[in-house]
Formats: sequence, C-alpha cells, structure tokens
Amino acid sequence: MRRSRPVTVGALIEAGARRLKRAGVFFGHGTDNARDEAAALVLHALRLPHDLSAALYRRRVGATAQQRARELLTRRIRERIPAAYLTGVTWFAGVRLHIDARVLVPRSPIAELIERRFAPWIDAARVRRVLDVGTGSGCIAIACARALPRARIDALDISQSALQVARGNVRRHRLGHRVRLIKSDHFRALQGATYDIIVANPPYVGSAELRGLPAEYRHEPRVALAAGRTGLDCVRVILREARRHLRTGGLLVVEVGNTETAVRRAFRRMPFLWLHFERGGGGVFLLTREQLPARRKVRGALG
Ligand SMILES: C[S@@+](CC[C@H](N)C(=O)[O-])C[C@H]1O[C@@H](n2cnc3c(N)ncnc32)[C@H](O)[C@@H]1O
Repeated sequence: MRRSRPVTVGALIEAGARRLKRAGVFFGHGTDNARDEAAALVLHALRLPHDLSAALYRRRVGATAQQRARELLTRRIRERIPAAYLTGVTWFAGVRLHIDARVLVPRSPIAELIERRFAPWIDAARVRRVLDVGTGSGCIAIACARALPRARIDALDISQSALQVARGNVRRHRLGHRVRLIKSDHFRALQGATYDIIVANPPYVGSAELRGLPAEYRHEPRVALAAGRTGLDCVRVILREARRHLRTGGLLVVEVGNTETAVRRAFRRMPFLWLHFERGGGGVFLLTREQLPARRKVRGALG
C-alpha cells in the first residue's frame, strides 16, 4: 500500500496561497499577497499562533485540521469574504484587534505615523488629548493610547454597531480609563472639546468608484466607505470643523486614499502636506490648526 506524504503547516500554507492566486481573489484587507493571506487563514484554522516559528512550519497536520483549513480557504474564495472577517482577528500598529463585518478591516497607513508617535510633526510628550473621527474597530484610538501613554483619547463614530466592536477592543486592551467612545455625527456631540491631534480615516469612496470595487468590499459596512457622489462629503465637514476642535499648534491628519486627486482639485487653496510611508500606502494629508480656515473664512478657503 502506498503511504501518502505527511502534510506540514508550511505545505498547507503554500498550497493555500496557490489556490488564492488561481482564484484571483482581491488582497488589500489587512494583507497584500496570497501567502500572507493563506497563512492567516491556515494558522487560524489550525489554532496556531500568528508569529510562526520554523519548527511549527514543519509540524505535521492531521486530516481533520487539514480539512478545516481547506474549508476556510474555500469560503474565502467562494464568498470573497476578507480573511480578517473569517478569522475575527487582525493587527494594526502592533495591536491585536477583534473585528467582524460591523467595522472596516483596519489597514490605514496612519498606523506607521502612530508608531512613530507622530514624529517629526509634534512633540509626543506634550500630547494630552487626541480625537479619532470614525473610529470603527477602535484601531486608531487604541494604537494612539498605546503610543502616547499620557494622552486621553476620544473616539467617535456614527455607527452604534461599530462602537460595540470598538468597546470590546478597548476593554480587551484595558484602556477604558483613557479611551472614551462617543456616538456622534462627525464633531456634533463634542461641544467645545479641543485636542492636540485629530486623526480621521473617514469614508471617502465616491458613488461610481463604489460600484466598481472588488467583491471583498461588499462585506464591509457601506457607512464606512461611501461618502457621496464625489467621495468628498466627510472630508469637507472635517476641513470645515476641525479648527474649532484643535489647540494651538495642533495637528489634523486625514486619510483620503485614492480620493487624493479629487481632494487636491476641490480644495486648491489648502496647503496640504501629503505624507510618505515607508511601509507603503498614501493619500494621507496633514494640516496644522493654523493652516485650517477660521469659521468666517471657510467659504473662501474651501469653496
Ligand atoms: C473608513 S472607516 C475607518 C474605521 C477605522 N478608523 C479604521 O481606520 O479602520 C470610517 C468610519 O467612519 C464612520 N463614519 C461614517 N460617517 C460618519 C459620520 N458622519 N460621523 C462619524 N463617523 C462616521 C463609519 O461608521 C466607519 O466606522
């Protein structure tokens, strides 16, 4: 009788990556290649840690566990569900987060800026209050709380169900004393609160672009992506209102992704500083409070 070759963790990952590639799934919800995506799914199915050692890579896998891994890959391919929703876990700026389809899959390049403690744009030691606009899973707020241990963070979102996910993550990281979750339409519920840094990764997809996105995006909440016909609805509100909520020398950091061109065109007079990221990604601008228009000048500055 011919014995079949033992299947190792590594072999399952490589075979999974080949399947994902052949199926033409879209990468970009937390990983950017087939191998990382396959590893996330296989390791989850095998209940193995995310930071795989060489010894674990060579470990043999039993038939039942192999089956579990293959079934998870099949769901990824057939239903085009982003891997992070299938595993329920993802990482952002070194922070482990529980997520599901109530929130966007965290992937903002702003993670890198937070890990650098916003250097060289502000002296991190003087940051006392941070606002995260559109917190989703709470990823930016929690990463800021960890990077800036003396700061208190307000994290707002219009979606009650997103705030439930964020609440779970804040609790798991034991940050309830420093991260406050607020249900708010943009800045509306904040009254007069002011901050040293406002960070936002708002919805910024225009209606035409939304229709053409890969199937994976249809699993994400529409409220996390859609921003009117041109994709500028939320950015416009943020540019109009942020100054009132910033302290002297305070920073506004906003991700607009590939809506960058439309933002540059729509707000020609704004002196945006477009940030560069070593780990890739872009479409993130920075403005200081002093560069933002005062209330009486909003119309002239923003059109
Ligand atoms: C692109 S997601 C970003 C989520 C998270 N900050 C991240 O980086 O993964 C945008 C978030 O903004 C929230 N949002 C949409 N419109 C909003 C509004 N008018 N006021 C506050 N939050 C809003 C959505 O519910 C969603 O959680």
